[in-house]
Amino acid sequence: MRKLYFSLILLLASLPLSLVAQAPSLAIQVDHPTAKVSPMLYGLMTEEINYSYDGGIYAEMVRNRMMTDDWSGVHYWYLVEQGNAECKMSIDHSGGPSKELTRGLKIEIAKADARNQAGVLNEGWWGMALRPSTTYKGSFWAKADSAAMGPLTVTLVSNNSGKVVASTTVNGLTAEWKQFNYALTTGVIEPSADNHLKITVGHAGTLWLELVSLFPPTYHDRPNGNRMDLMEKLAAMHPKFLRFPGGNYLEGNHIAERFNWKQTVGPMVSRPTHIGPWGYHSSDGMGLQEFLNWCEDLQMEPVLAVYAGYSLSQEHVNPGPDLEPYVQDALDEIEYVTGGLDTKWGKVRAENGHPEPFKLTYVEIGNEDNFDKSKSYEGRYEQFYKAIKAKYPALQLIATMPIKNMRPDVVDDHYYVRRQQFFADQTHYDKTDRTGPKIFVGEWATREGAPTPNFGSALGDAAWMTGLERNSDIVVMAAYAPLLVNVNPGGMQWETDLIGYDTLTSYGSPSYWAQVLFGSYLGTEVVPATLTNAGPRVFTSVTRDEKQRKLFVKVVNASSDEAALNIALNGVATMKRDATLITLSGKTPNATNSITHPDAVVPVEHKIAVTGPNFKQSFAPYSINVLKLSY
Ligand code: AHR
Repeated sequence: MRKLYFSLILLLASLPLSLVAQAPSLAIQVDHPTAKVSPMLYGLMTEEINYSYDGGIYAEMVRNRMMTDDWSGVHYWYLVEQGNAECKMSIDHSGGPSKELTRGLKIEIAKADARNQAGVLNEGWWGMALRPSTTYKGSFWAKADSAAMGPLTVTLVSNNSGKVVASTTVNGLTAEWKQFNYALTTGVIEPSADNHLKITVGHAGTLWLELVSLFPPTYHDRPNGNRMDLMEKLAAMHPKFLRFPGGNYLEGNHIAERFNWKQTVGPMVSRPTHIGPWGYHSSDGMGLQEFLNWCEDLQMEPVLAVYAGYSLSQEHVNPGPDLEPYVQDALDEIEYVTGGLDTKWGKVRAENGHPEPFKLTYVEIGNEDNFDKSKSYEGRYEQFYKAIKAKYPALQLIATMPIKNMRPDVVDDHYYVRRQQFFADQTHYDKTDRTGPKIFVGEWATREGAPTPNFGSALGDAAWMTGLERNSDIVVMAAYAPLLVNVNPGGMQWETDLIGYDTLTSYGSPSYWAQVLFGSYLGTEVVPATLTNAGPRVFTSVTRDEKQRKLFVKVVNASSDEAALNIALNGVATMKRDATLITLSGKTPNATNSITHPDAVVPVEHKIAVTGPNFKQSFAPYSINVLKLSY
C-alpha cells in the first residue's frame, strides 16, 4: 500500500504541470494599480416610464391634477352626491387659471346643502398613502359663479370604512381664478393607501377646479418634492450622477411631444403639461429645476440630455437653419443649469429658488439616434457640438452613437440582455481603444424577472459591473435602466426595473442590492487581479483606496457550486486581521424580492479573520461578494 502511494506521488510529479488540476486562485497585485477609477462611475438613469415620476418618486398624491378627460369622463375624478344632493361635471375648455392651463373641471351643482354636500373626489395613484399624525399640504385653483357658494370642505376619507381621516374648510371663492392652500393632518390611524380626497360644497351653483394638489412630507422637506422612501433607496446606491430626462421621454413620439424644458420650469400653473411616449400624460411637476434639486439632494451631478431634433415616430429636424432653434434651446438649458445671475437663464433659475449654479460636466446630445432612419444624426451632433463647445469649451459632449467624421468626447452604449450574454461579454471593454472616445454605458440591465429583476439578473449585472470597474479608465459612467416601476396593475410599461413600489411601500430588487454593493464599496484605483481555474462563471474586480489603505475585492460566483479561492495579495507587507465579507446570495437564480416579500434577497455582512496576504476564502453558490480588507 505504502509502495503504491509513493508510486502515485512519483507519477504525479512526473506529469507536466498543465495536467495537474490547480486549486482555484485569485492573485491580486495590490501595489501596482493600473488605472484610476472614474469618480463618476455609477449613477442613475431616469425618465417618465412605469409611473416613475407621476405616481412614483414625485410625491404628488392627486392623480390627473391637470384635468384631462376622454369619452369615458374625467380621468380619476368622480362625482360626490351626498344625501339628496345633485351635481354633474365636465371639462370647461373656455378658460383656465393661466394662458398655459386653459381648462378647468366644471362642477354644476343643482342641489346641495350643509348636510347634503356635493362635489368631486380624486382616487389618487392607486389610492392615497396616509400615515398617522402627519400633515399633508395641498393647494388648488378655483372659482365659483357666486360667492354664496360658501366654503369648500376638503377631506381625506378611508375608502373602506368611509371614516373621515382628516378634514378642513377653505373660504374665499370668487368669480376669478385664485389659488388656495390647505393642510390636512391625520390622527391615530394605521398606515394605508386605501384613501381618497374629497372636495365638496353645501350650496347649489357652479364651481371650477384646476391643479388640485396634495403632498405628503417630502425628502429634505422640499415643496413639490420627492417621495422619501424612494429617495432613501437611491441614496443608498451612492450614485454620482443623474442622467435625465430620458430615454425616450426626452424625444417624445413627436417633435411637439419632446421634453420641452422651457415648459417645465416656474410655477405649476405656467406648465402646460405634455403627453409622454409611454402611454400617459405627464404633469411636468418633475421639471428641469426639480431634476436639479434631486441631484442636489443626493449629491449627484446632472448628466443633462438635450433634445437633438429626433422623435420616436421617425420625425427629425434637418441639420442647418431648421435645427438652430433647438440648438439655442440647448444652449439656454445649459445656461439655466450653470449660468451666473448676470445671465438670462441663470436669473430665471434664481427666481425659481436656486441662485447658485450647478456643476455640469457632461451634456448628452439626444438619445439612441441610431434609430433615426434619416441618418441625420452625424450632422445634428456636429451642429450641437460646435455651438456648445464655442460657448462652453469645458463641457464633455456625449454622442448617442458612434460618429464617423469627428471624434465625440464620449459615446453612450446601451445593453439590455440575458445574464449569459453579460457573463460572456464582461470583458467587452478590456480591449477598447484607449485613444478613442470615452464610454458612457447610459442604459443597461440584465432583463430576467418582472416587474423587477430576479437574482439571476443580479448575477448578470454584477458580472457586467466587474468589467465596467476594471475598465473605468475608459468607461467614465454607467447607469442601470429603467430605475423605477410602480407595481400596481397597469403601472409597468417596461419589464425588469430596479426598484418597485406601490402607493405605500417600496422594495429593492436583487439587482438593486448588487448596485448598492458596487456603489458603496469602490476604491479610487483599479488593481490587477487574475483568476485561475475558477471556472467560467466566476468574475472579479478589485479596487483600492490608497488613502484609506482599503482593498475592495469583488467576487461574483454565478455558478451553482461554491467557489473556494486561494487568494494572494501580492505587494503588501502586512494585512489587518479584521476583514468584512458582504454577501448577496440566492438559492436559485429565480430567487427574488417583491412588494409582499421585500427582503427575501438582501446582503448579509460577516466579520472574517484574514491570517496574512495568502488566505483561502469560500464564496457561496449563486453569490455576489465584496471582501473589504485593510492593508
Ligand atoms: O429604458 C427604457 C428605454 O430603453 C429608454 O427610454 C430608451 O432609451 C431605451 O430604448
